Amino acid sequence: MLSNLSQLPARKQSGPPLAVLTCYDYPTARLLDEAGVDMLLVGDSLGMVVLGLPDTTGVTMDDIVHHLKAVARGAERAPIIADLPYHAYETPGQAVANARRLMEAGAQAVKLEGGVSVIAQVKAIIAEGIPFVGHIGMLPQSVVAEGGYKKKGKTPEGAALLIADALALDEAGACACVLESMVAEVAEAITRRMKMNTIGIGAGKACDGQVLVSHDLLGSFPWFRPPFAKVRADVAGETLRAAREYVAEVQSTPS
Ligand code: KIV
Repeated sequence: MLSNLSQLPARKQSGPPLAVLTCYDYPTARLLDEAGVDMLLVGDSLGMVVLGLPDTTGVTMDDIVHHLKAVARGAERAPIIADLPYHAYETPGQAVANARRLMEAGAQAVKLEGGVSVIAQVKAIIAEGIPFVGHIGMLPQSVVAEGGYKKKGKTPEGAALLIADALALDEAGACACVLESMVAEVAEAITRRMKMNTIGIGAGKACDGQVLVSHDLLGSFPWFRPPFAKVRADVAGETLRAAREYVAEVQSTPS
């Protein structure tokens, strides 16, 4: 089980694959840490599964910092990756200032979306000595601009763009990279070719690890479930059951 990001190269070399989950609050951080989850991601999926926003583009630095501080209070061992949200890394200077803010709030690494197009920002963050995790493939922060969630790497040109993004991040010194919703063969090629650990979500089984939104694993956000997520609990069902039981009991007791 990972306790330090310096163990990442050894895990790429000899396994086992990294098991990563998103996390946004103190009790969940304590439980996931105790369960042996390798890394916790305070992702901007926060916007949808916790804040009730339609997508991740409305999430702010203040939102991430608020939830990151709670997660950092609960995670004793698991390293925490925190997302730089939409519009928080438009220039290298802004990226560094916001990455520092996340590190001060308890992150061990920061993540942002993109490859070649944001490489100046990535290099600036790494030059500050801040551990960096990339995120390529389907990019939720671009969902409005791209008109929906679309799997990547389906054409030779698309695959070449993904490999170019991965190479740019690897050469810049990223310690890991999320590969989201891409053709499995492309994810496998990237995983084989790069030094950084790849962490897949909807990108096949050949990655160096997997990440899931914890609400998808736990069944606590029943209104949307990605097809690749194996739901292993029914937190929504249990919440409804317990709350209904409580309502019935209180209302049946004469006052
Ligand atoms: O914000 C998030 O939860 C993420 C995962 C989908 C990897 O970036």
